[in-house]
Amino acid sequence: MSLSDLTIPRRRGRRREDSRLADHVDRLGEEHPPIPLGGVDYTMQKPGLLAERFGPVLAYMTRVELEVERNVLELNIMLPDPPEVDRHFYADVWMPQETRHGQILDKLQDLLGVEPHEPNLDEVSFSLKLLGALGKVPGVQDISRMLYYLTGLATERSAVLAYNRFHAGLVDLGERAIAATVVAPIRRQEPGHFAYYQMASQQLWDQLSGWQKWLTRGLRKRTFEVVGAYNKLQVTQFGDVMDKLKMSDGGEAELRKYAEQVGRAEHDLLWAHRRGLKVPDYVFKSLKRSAVLAAERKGDVWPAPQPS
Ligand SMILES: [Fe+2]
Ligand SMILES: [Fe+2]
Repeated sequence: MSLSDLTIPRRRGRRREDSRLADHVDRLGEEHPPIPLGGVDYTMQKPGLLAERFGPVLAYMTRVELEVERNVLELNIMLPDPPEVDRHFYADVWMPQETRHGQILDKLQDLLGVEPHEPNLDEVSFSLKLLGALGKVPGVQDISRMLYYLTGLATERSAVLAYNRFHAGLVDLGERAIAATVVAPIRRQEPGHFAYYQMASQQLWDQLSGWQKWLTRGLRKRTFEVVGAYNKLQVTQFGDVMDKLKMSDGGEAELRKYAEQVGRAEHDLLWAHRRGLKVPDYVFKSLKRSAVLAAERKGDVWPAPQPS
């Protein structure tokens, strides 16, 4: 059997995977158009209490959802020559959905009088521009793409976990209209994004060479940050989000479980060969830093000392 005979099934397999991914994106676009604004009911029972309990969550999520506008600029720089299926996903499906999430949440925070967090809509960081320039070196753009998928995996999983808690908290407060017409429809659209990154990352990982995998692992470990946090203030604000959503009040053991959920997909892809490592430690450390900074800002220590 010649070498070309060996490569044909592999190529065919790749084409089949490409079309599976393209079908997924088409389906997402058809089944999940941007949430119609007319279906949103902003009726509230106790707006003051809602703002007090969930204001920091709302402000944080709104900013992150609105910043997809900048994320697309970043992608255009980082991936000057993206596969068509990626471009179709982020420009035609993902961005319109996420932007609408941001608009709906923004209106809610406005109605509640919650102080908005200033979104960065157009300033691309130097390190991303550098990655874009390096993308001209053969093989480097694949690493950028891999990092993009990995960030997507952690971001979308974090979003689902946060919206789940937010939804439950709203139901507890008796804010059924907001839970059912704001948070539930948004939450419904996030798993499709996660599934996209999962398929795309698996497919690309299988194609990377040894040095590309090595570099991806190293860069990911050094650059991981909690969702939507690009500076110390935002890291602290994410700590407030975890606090309000009661994700960090059970101490290290509970936070580690949360880190496992955020990091599981990339663990399975990047680190599964290292036995005994249940979750990439950098995910846990980043979340812990957020929790510690948020507690410090309130004059507390994290984790709160247990009564003896
Ligand atoms: Fe979203
Ligand atoms: Fe999403």
